[in-house]
Amino acid sequence: MSAPDTSKAVLRYVDVHKAFGPRQILRGVNLDVVGGETFCIMGPSGCGKSVTLRHLIGLMKPDKGHVYVDGNDMATITKEDLRKLRSRMGFVFQEAALLNWLSAGDNVALPLRETTNMPDEEIVARVRAKLELVHVPDAFDKLPGELSGGMKKRVGLARALITDPEIVLYDEPTAGLDPEISASINRLIRELGDRLKVTQLVVTHHIGCVKTVADRVGLLDGGVLNFISTSEEFLSSEEPRLVRFLGDRLD
Ligand SMILES: Nc1ncnc2c1ncn2[C@@H]1O[C@H](COP(=O)(O)OP(=O)(O)OP(=O)(O)O)[C@@H](O)[C@H]1O
Ligand SMILES: [Mg+2]
Repeated sequence: MSAPDTSKAVLRYVDVHKAFGPRQILRGVNLDVVGGETFCIMGPSGCGKSVTLRHLIGLMKPDKGHVYVDGNDMATITKEDLRKLRSRMGFVFQEAALLNWLSAGDNVALPLRETTNMPDEEIVARVRAKLELVHVPDAFDKLPGELSGGMKKRVGLARALITDPEIVLYDEPTAGLDPEISASINRLIRELGDRLKVTQLVVTHHIGCVKTVADRVGLLDGGVLNFISTSEEFLSSEEPRLVRFLGDRLD
């Protein structure tokens, strides 16, 4: 694959630094994800993958450096522009982050109820279709407390996709799912990239996920994103650090 044209970057990190108290987590992250590209971030637990993702929805601001989404600097974006931008984005949280007092169906419906005037019958039909897509059709009436971890995860995925967003961010989309369901979620992510040209950033521990979904992938380690390359190059690399990291993966 030829190098992407980074002038078309939809997601851009420029020298991003982030510390919590004395603990420096990000030490100069640089990344351009171009429109329609699916990029995976791998990295050891606690290295700052979730922190990196949170900068893209304005939940965190860099101490130094810049994060841009579709040309908007996330540190200075106005509330109104942030609201508009977020309506074009979906976010799959590492913990499903469902509202416990709403049924799964109502959780998934929430972004549509909040941002559109769509009639309720249509909302319900769309919610049922998305729950079907992620293989949890029976979750519709259940409260989050009645669902397994893997089911909650998939309901969170349905909620992220309900508005058919142009940009989707995934924090461990297949963690805690059995291999068959994981494979189908990975295929779904790949299809969103291929068919709908959705721009996607996927944090994952799973090599199977990288193989199926990634156009490119990088390793977040020591606060910087290294070894950015195609998934084939990344997974067959002989760089000692990568060999060690990938050798410890289970799949
Ligand atoms: N809001 C916060 N306040 C203080 N420390 C934080 C905060 N968020 C994250 N951290 C710390 O930053 C580090 C990186 O956290 P992060 O959640 O990004 O790791 P991760 O790479 O996603 O790990 P995992 O693979 O286990 O999900 C951790 O040491 C974490 O404790
Ligand atoms: Mg994390």
